[in-house]
Amino acid sequence: MKNVLITGASGFIGSFLVEEGLKQGYQVYAGIRKSSSRAYLQDPRIKFLEFNFSTRETVMETLTECLRNQIRFDYIIHNAGLTKAKKKEDFYNVNCRNTINFIEALTEKEMVPEKFLFISSLAAFGPGNPLTGEPVRLADEPKPIELYGKSKLDAERYIMGLKNFPWLILRPTGVYGPKEKDYYVFFQTINRGMEPYIGFRKQVLTFIYVRDLVRLAFIALASPHLQKGWFVSDGKEYPSELFAEITKKALGKRTIRFTVPLFIVKTIAILGENIAGLWGTMPTLNTDKYNVLSSTNWRCEIEPLEQDFGFKAEYDLEKGVAETLAWYKKENWL
Ligand SMILES: NC(=O)c1ccc[n+]([C@@H]2O[C@H](COP(=O)([O-])OP(=O)(O)OC[C@H]3O[C@@H](n4cnc5c(N)ncnc54)[C@H](OP(=O)(O)O)[C@@H]3O)[C@@H](O)[C@H]2O)c1
Repeated sequence: MKNVLITGASGFIGSFLVEEGLKQGYQVYAGIRKSSSRAYLQDPRIKFLEFNFSTRETVMETLTECLRNQIRFDYIIHNAGLTKAKKKEDFYNVNCRNTINFIEALTEKEMVPEKFLFISSLAAFGPGNPLTGEPVRLADEPKPIELYGKSKLDAERYIMGLKNFPWLILRPTGVYGPKEKDYYVFFQTINRGMEPYIGFRKQVLTFIYVRDLVRLAFIALASPHLQKGWFVSDGKEYPSELFAEITKKALGKRTIRFTVPLFIVKTIAILGENIAGLWGTMPTLNTDKYNVLSSTNWRCEIEPLEQDFGFKAEYDLEKGVAETLAWYKKENWL
């Protein structure tokens, strides 16, 4: 039986990676923190390992313990990451510095796995050209527009610069599904009868349902590919109105539609950032968030994914949103 270590196992995507690994017959090691919730990690087959990635030495403590117990990893999915941060420097520290510490510790302990899959993000490349509407392509120069994307790109550059390291990189676009908490706010807003838009320009979004993403992660691990990266989406494009339409239909709701002009959002973001900056924190609506919300082209190239893996998403937005909303309702989130 092959084994796989999944970091960030307690989170939204991580818990689905764990479930998929178990389904496919792997021995799954869930990499978590001391403080992590195990609410979504209840399967008795899961083995837990506590990691502190903040220094190479603290990572090595856990790896030493693994070796003492004769645990080595065939595959590692490094999924732990920060998508939102209280302080600007947290993005770099968690998404990049921790990744470097982890890889250095693995190397030092001679525990480099057969494959190391890094869960990056489309944000590492940034959005596509708004004028041409062309998708972001692998051959493009990455142009992240916020600190989150920059920190993922920094980690990618470090990984890709390593000689003989067995890396793979997946760069998902927006991931949604049960347990997810950001798109959930949008679903909640629609459920309350409101349909907000930011700015008057048409926005094209892309998505991947979490179950498709985790299935792909294991396809990539079992494939012969090495030292390669891919964007990940379900292959379709969704104008923001269509996202709202699909949600309204699934919820059976009518809404009041309104648009907040970009300059108002930008003003709030700048003011909030300046005020929160006095305490060294970042507000939820900040200039980075504004940059993301005001970008109109989130298309990305997925032909390489289809060619290399024959990958086809099983869920389009309609099917995925229906399953997601059913889960939110079952869990009384909606
Ligand atoms: N959701 C998306 O739309 C999306 C899109 C593209 C890429 N991604 C990437 O997918 C990965 C998972 O994201 P998610 O949406 O599942 O987020 P999530 O639900 O917030 O999960 C993040 C996971 O990372 C762990 N983590 C955070 N900071 C850590 C630290 N300092 N040390 C160790 N573990 C830490 C968290 O542990 P705790 O439970 O202990 O906090 C949690 O298990 C991230 O790398 C993210 O950048 C997400």
